[in-house]
Amino acid sequence: MSAPGAPTMTRLEKLMLPMTRNVGAERLLEGLSRIAHAPLDRAQALPPGCYTDEAFFALEMERLFGREWICIGRASDIPEPGDHLTLELANAQVMAVRQRNGEIAVLSRVCRHRAALLGTSGGGSTKLFVCPYHKWVYELDGTLRGAPTLEQNPGFRREDCGLPSFRTEVWLGFIFFCADPAAAPLAPRLDQVAERVRSYDLAELTTGFVLEDVWEANWKVAFENSCETYHHMGVHPSSLEPFFPTLGARCEAGGAGFNLHVVPAIAGFSFEPATGGDAQSAQSAQLLIIGVYPALVLVLSGRTVSWFAFAPVGVTRTRIRVGWLTPKGGQHADGSRLARDREILERVLSEDRASCAGVQLGLGSRDAASGPLSPLERTVAEFSRYLAERLTSVERADPAPSLGSIASAPPGQG
Ligand code: FES
Ligand SMILES: [Fe+2]
Repeated sequence: MSAPGAPTMTRLEKLMLPMTRNVGAERLLEGLSRIAHAPLDRAQALPPGCYTDEAFFALEMERLFGREWICIGRASDIPEPGDHLTLELANAQVMAVRQRNGEIAVLSRVCRHRAALLGTSGGGSTKLFVCPYHKWVYELDGTLRGAPTLEQNPGFRREDCGLPSFRTEVWLGFIFFCADPAAAPLAPRLDQVAERVRSYDLAELTTGFVLEDVWEANWKVAFENSCETYHHMGVHPSSLEPFFPTLGARCEAGGAGFNLHVVPAIAGFSFEPATGGDAQSAQSAQLLIIGVYPALVLVLSGRTVSWFAFAPVGVTRTRIRVGWLTPKGGQHADGSRLARDREILERVLSEDRASCAGVQLGLGSRDAASGPLSPLERTVAEFSRYLAERLTSVERADPAPSLGSIASAPPGQG
């Protein structure tokens, strides 16, 4: 009952209160922070709500995907001017475009007229971006070239209607973009990774094939799954476990921008006969798995590398793009070899896809809990620390930049 004279709250106000304060998200952030500060030998999984809550997801989109370096794909996959690759996030539609001067620009795909999408979804090639809706025409750098009949409007200024562009970096052949003009550059925080994978010559590898899919799981379910191999014995009992047994995995200390673990192969297994020195021998008998925060995973295996990029399109829906990289020419790029590798990868992915969808259903159950993590999931625990750091200590004075309103930045080299 209210005190006499105190204003009474309407039913609508009561309903609105948790939404405006994001009480649910605040509690989840507290839970995340508690977990992230625990010692590694007492590490726990994230609170289930972190994978299901709309407000928490909105926070991630703003503070992580609106501020971080996000991978779009490989620079070598867009070699010619006008070649482009698109990326869909829950709150952004962007494309990496090869420019006429050879550089790569990452632009918004959203037409400045009435928001139709430009370019070819997935990727394609064009001389100019012509909007399919009312035929506005943009140059490859996003400059508006033509807008039928708009010249009749005295207030129309073509220069105000170019496509926003974003900061771009190409790291070891991967194209990244960042919507935050104040973010630190990507490469320095991945120095250790670049050093560790130097012998794989990543920047020189070419794409054998790319697979795309949508998984019915939160992006972190998918990313964490790809960063640990504790699940090999459960999810891949005949495809991976016989060759890369769960219990042989070895997690190493990661860094500010990544986690890392190694899965030795069984004795006698080799991706191909070693022909070089020690580094090459080791490469041919293990998986080296690196999670590049927030949403890219590299799996280095012998002379080939697969990469997994996870793009959240909803709280429980994640678009994944998987690329298979091989040295130019040679046995790995052979058609029948690629077909076989593709078949194996598709099988493993279908096992992971089904497993992640099941985990997502479990997380949505009211009795889901934050369970203890194995030492083989150190990578997952380290990822929690990264998340906590990015989501709870980013109380910056400036609001997160909008992905649709970033001023032009110089295109990246590629
Ligand atoms: S929405 Fe692009 S021209 Fe109208
Ligand atoms: Fe898996």
